Amino acid sequence: MKKRILTGDRPTGPLHIGHYFGALKNRVALQDEYDTFVIIADVQALTDNFQNPEKVRKNVYGVAMDNLAAGIDPNKSTIFIQSLIPEIAELTVFYSNLVTITRLQRNPTVKEEIEQKKELFGDNVTFGFLGYPVSQAADITAFQADLVPVGEDQLPQIEQAREIVRKFNQIYGPTLKEPEAKVSQFPRIRGLDRAKMGKSLNNAIYLVDPPEIIKKKVTSAITDTKKIYLKDKGHPEVCVIYDYHKMFGTDELDIIEKECRSGARGCVQCKKELVESIAKILAPIQEKRQHYQERPKLVEEILFEGSQKARSVAKKTLKLVKEKMHLNYF
Ligand code: TRP
Repeated sequence: MKKRILTGDRPTGPLHIGHYFGALKNRVALQDEYDTFVIIADVQALTDNFQNPEKVRKNVYGVAMDNLAAGIDPNKSTIFIQSLIPEIAELTVFYSNLVTITRLQRNPTVKEEIEQKKELFGDNVTFGFLGYPVSQAADITAFQADLVPVGEDQLPQIEQAREIVRKFNQIYGPTLKEPEAKVSQFPRIRGLDRAKMGKSLNNAIYLVDPPEIIKKKVTSAITDTKKIYLKDKGHPEVCVIYDYHKMFGTDELDIIEKECRSGARGCVQCKKELVESIAKILAPIQEKRQHYQERPKLVEEILFEGSQKARSVAKKTLKLVKEKMHLNYF
């Protein structure tokens, strides 16, 4: 029996290169070795987009296509929509007894997100948003996942899921599998303005960006503020363009570094080369995305079948959980 993976995304916007290197690439590489489930977490997306259901709906298809374009193969992996699995919502209710409010408030990722969403929440966050790690624990455990490949920012969520599992098993007897996180080799990718790359922060390169847009975005990025003229000596360690060169795997990384430090290379040339490297990586992804974009029925079919299969797995887990909780009435 293959071990199982559960991982996924919130459908709140197009996926960007941070997602690609931080999560998607890893997920695609693991799908042969693991029985992989990819969740499109629309219920979680609504926790901070409840006023915007059309946006979430639209992005469910977008994120599905981004995953397929990046190499998730529907014949190997199961890709599904969270809200079509009501068992996850039921598990969330049961797990909510096993987590304290204080514990949720201490979750660093949630804390940071609440800070970023001041406009939406003010000083008074919703029950749903504060509690989304509980629902994420349900996403993971509904599938008895062994492994959860995620970006670094998701580690607190996995830790919380593990705590819930331990508590559940301790109270109701061994039932749930304790999942392990697997972080990709690229921890956190900075946005073009050096802040965290975010779907809503306007500093990202998206997988769907055409070459002209990529060129425009890269060209306007701030490099090393101490390097003003071509001949000025640069500091690659502070430069996002250098970071991106690393990520996009140029063979000339050493040369780039040396030339930048000595003042032999200007930022304009460096950016031009980066645009080329990005285009090389994104071209096959965009070609595949086009294929799916032209076949919306196919995408729907993949999601429909994936969700049916996912539901049959989650049903089994819920049945077991209810038995353990003495909720198996009739
Ligand atoms: N919270 C994740 C994100 O923001 C998305 C997600 C939802 C997820 N459920 C999950 C990730 C379960 C891993 C496992 O990207």
